[in-house]
Amino acid sequence: MLTQPSNIAPKQSRSAELLERFRTVRAATMHFCSPLSPEDMMVQSSPEASPVKWHLAHTSWFFETFILSEFVANYQPFDPNFHWLFNSYYRSLGEMPEKKLRASFSRPPLDQILSYRRHVDAAIERLLSHMPEDESQRRIVLGLEHEQQHLELAATDIKHAFFTNPLHPAYRPANPSLRPSENIAPPLNWLSFTPGTSARPGIVGIGTSPDPTDIYAFAFDNETPRHPIYLAPFQLASRPVMCAEYLAFIEDNGYSRPELWLSEGWDTLQAEGWQAPLYWVRDPATPAGWSIFTLQGFRPLGEISETPVCHLSFFEADAFARWSGNRLPTEFEWEFVASGVASGSGSPSGSGSPSTAGSPYAAGSPSTAGSPSTAGSPSIAGSPSIAGSPYAAGLAAGFSPLNNPSQTEGFSPGASHLRGNFMESGHLHPQVGSATAPTPQQLFGDVWEWTQSPYTGYPGYKPLPGALGEYNGKFMSSQIVLRGGSCVTPETHIRATYRNFFSPSTRWQFSGLRLARDGA
Ligand SMILES: [Fe+2]
Repeated sequence: MLTQPSNIAPKQSRSAELLERFRTVRAATMHFCSPLSPEDMMVQSSPEASPVKWHLAHTSWFFETFILSEFVANYQPFDPNFHWLFNSYYRSLGEMPEKKLRASFSRPPLDQILSYRRHVDAAIERLLSHMPEDESQRRIVLGLEHEQQHLELAATDIKHAFFTNPLHPAYRPANPSLRPSENIAPPLNWLSFTPGTSARPGIVGIGTSPDPTDIYAFAFDNETPRHPIYLAPFQLASRPVMCAEYLAFIEDNGYSRPELWLSEGWDTLQAEGWQAPLYWVRDPATPAGWSIFTLQGFRPLGEISETPVCHLSFFEADAFARWSGNRLPTEFEWEFVASGVASGSGSPSGSGSPSTAGSPYAAGSPSTAGSPSTAGSPSIAGSPSIAGSPYAAGLAAGFSPLNNPSQTEGFSPGASHLRGNFMESGHLHPQVGSATAPTPQQLFGDVWEWTQSPYTGYPGYKPLPGALGEYNGKFMSSQIVLRGGSCVTPETHIRATYRNFFSPSTRWQFSGLRLARDGA
């Protein structure tokens, strides 16, 4: 039976939008590689990282394995060996090389990997031009989200590779036209939240349940299903912790005081010899005594002391929070606040009044005043008014997250993007917050924010069927959730419900923290 033309047009048009997005995302990966040499793309400088060349092949492998081989009749794989060679961790598909051996992949050469990408690109383009079935389009959307995850990993992996190189090359020189507009971070203030409504105090919705009839309503399986939870009143800091504040922790012997550290964290600190975040190197020639390696090469701490601190493990983030007399937020507190920011509706809460009472640092905690890099910093002084905060408008609107299950869902052709310092900004490093932006600020972009939440399945969680069920679910042990994306996350990849996860000792991602505490 013929389908009515009126039904075909929108489907064709959305399929064309998906093709456009496919081209954009694949091109972004290649654009990122443009400053790199073939030799750069072969380096694997730690067991948890991968060579950029491997990322180029593996993302193509994903499209070939989960879309082309399943949905294209008589599809000819580029090279049958690639089926196992570029499998990352999908054990139900068979064996794969040990991850630490990826640095030995001088063969296949880069040219062949680039031909592989072109082969896959052409096949996906043909598929999308022939009105493919819904499931294949869903898989392409997943493949694009996967490609964006690996683009971010390529950025963090090459940063580590260049740091370990004795010449410490820059991925790209700093662009003078991208000088930050702000040099001093805004004060760090408390925002208070009393979740829920008077009828259901404390009850809020977390996660998402994408419309199953909308093949573009994407979320990873680990973000589903949307479900109610209880949240007690809490306070969240208006911005992430910045380098100058973290320096005060270092100078207060934070790395030598076991009472501040979780047991496993202290053991890791001892074993690894941690004295500062990853990429901080003592540099007596600079006023602050430290330089920090960035994708633009080394920069004195004094130049970027007002930017959010990053490359922290969960253990360091947790120790800093304890030192300051506070704690890390739960992932649910974070999402509750971020969902209001993402939806543009203002307040995430049906009740409660955000306030900015006091500094987030407990009385008696060392001040950053007097630190070589923070003299004159206003970061922990005073509390500005919140007049003009989007929360006031949101309170009036009576926004209730439980009644808005789709307000934070991800990719949809034509959807607007969240604002923040993402990969597309070109900074490739966290930036100073704005003195005039609404608070909370920098929830999205800049740094992934460690939460205190273990990575587990939500009530009713079901992994994707088949081998794709290995994508997220099998990592639900011994990992901690991070939220919000970073300065190397593609901007169309993030959403309020997005759950990143790493083992608690991980430091090579752009991971920082935002403080929280109990009570409204
Ligand atoms: Fe992957």
